[in-house]
Amino acid sequence: MDPQLQTISEKALEELERIQDRPGLDAWRQLYLGRKGVLAEQLRRVGQLAPAARPAYGREVHALQDRLESAWEAREVLLRRKELAAQARQECVDITLPGRQRRLGAYHPITQVLREMIETFYALGFQVWDGPEVELDRYNFELLNMPAHHPARAMHDTFYLDTPELRAGPSGAPAPGALLLRTHTSPNQIRIMPQVGLPLRVVVPGRVYRYEQVDPSHNWMFYQVEGFVVDRGITLADLKGTITAVLRRVFGRQVRLRFRCDYFPYVEPGVDTAVGCVLCQGAGCRLCGGTGWLEVMPAGMIHPQVLRNCGIDPDRYSGFAFGAGPDRIAAIRWQIEDIRHLYQNDLRFLQQFRAALQRPRAKEGAA
Ligand code: DAH
Repeated sequence: MDPQLQTISEKALEELERIQDRPGLDAWRQLYLGRKGVLAEQLRRVGQLAPAARPAYGREVHALQDRLESAWEAREVLLRRKELAAQARQECVDITLPGRQRRLGAYHPITQVLREMIETFYALGFQVWDGPEVELDRYNFELLNMPAHHPARAMHDTFYLDTPELRAGPSGAPAPGALLLRTHTSPNQIRIMPQVGLPLRVVVPGRVYRYEQVDPSHNWMFYQVEGFVVDRGITLADLKGTITAVLRRVFGRQVRLRFRCDYFPYVEPGVDTAVGCVLCQGAGCRLCGGTGWLEVMPAGMIHPQVLRNCGIDPDRYSGFAFGAGPDRIAAIRWQIEDIRHLYQNDLRFLQQFRAALQRPRAKEGAA
């Protein structure tokens, strides 16, 4: 080989061996194999040679060109592999690393009670309805046998909305068209009964509002589950059976129940349902005010006038209604001493009820 080409070849291959990156590869290629590179220059020299020497020299330059070309390609493949290996090392996932634990959430205690109650009502053939939280005086009171100035209204300290109807009733009392935040879920009896065909079994869970002094057992907002059943020949026995099924589901089968007379203007007779105190088992304590009983589910046989107000003939049909307090039931069940905890969204409090998720059924025998 031409000694000059030999020198070029050795130098080029030696340099190529030392190249570690892509810019180096590109520069080397440009230098030796580029249009104005070292080999191109050698080719241009052919013209200056004696005509007889030209073909052999030309062949040698081309051969060298081929050799450098394949050396470059080999180097390129090698560097690409190294690059990939480095990338793989950098991006690798350590599959031996323990996974991040996801903390399991839980339903709010009130939601848990609501779900258990509704599940039982479904099984008993009830449908679930919803009603507005902003309600007419007419539905909240008037058509439930509580006209303005009815003494039973004193039990419902009411948030009224400031509309002209607020003072349009007799001697400045709220007129039936006045708007208020519903103080109970009972107005849904009037709203829903005419919409559902007879016979009917309906529950209406929801929030209610009262202008109350807030204390460990009272809040200005709480939950109720209204329920009502109308059919031919419904009696107090149906009321007792239904309420017993639901309270057993929530408190366990061994729960002791007491049904007593009570008064609500929209039922006759009215019933107060109490469960045996979960703290003292009836001996009398602070939770039950010494009585041994906790009232959880007022109810009654629907008043004939209320049925009439819903377009139902009380001579042919009868029914019962109840209004359960899921917040109070939750407070009793988990012995929460201050119901305000239920509304403050403090995770330290709420996380204690996660365990209840793994035990969806109230334990048999547990009060
Ligand atoms: N509405 C009543 C309250 O909020 C609870 C109630 C009592 C509802 C008797 C009823 C019933 O349906 O029959 O205090």
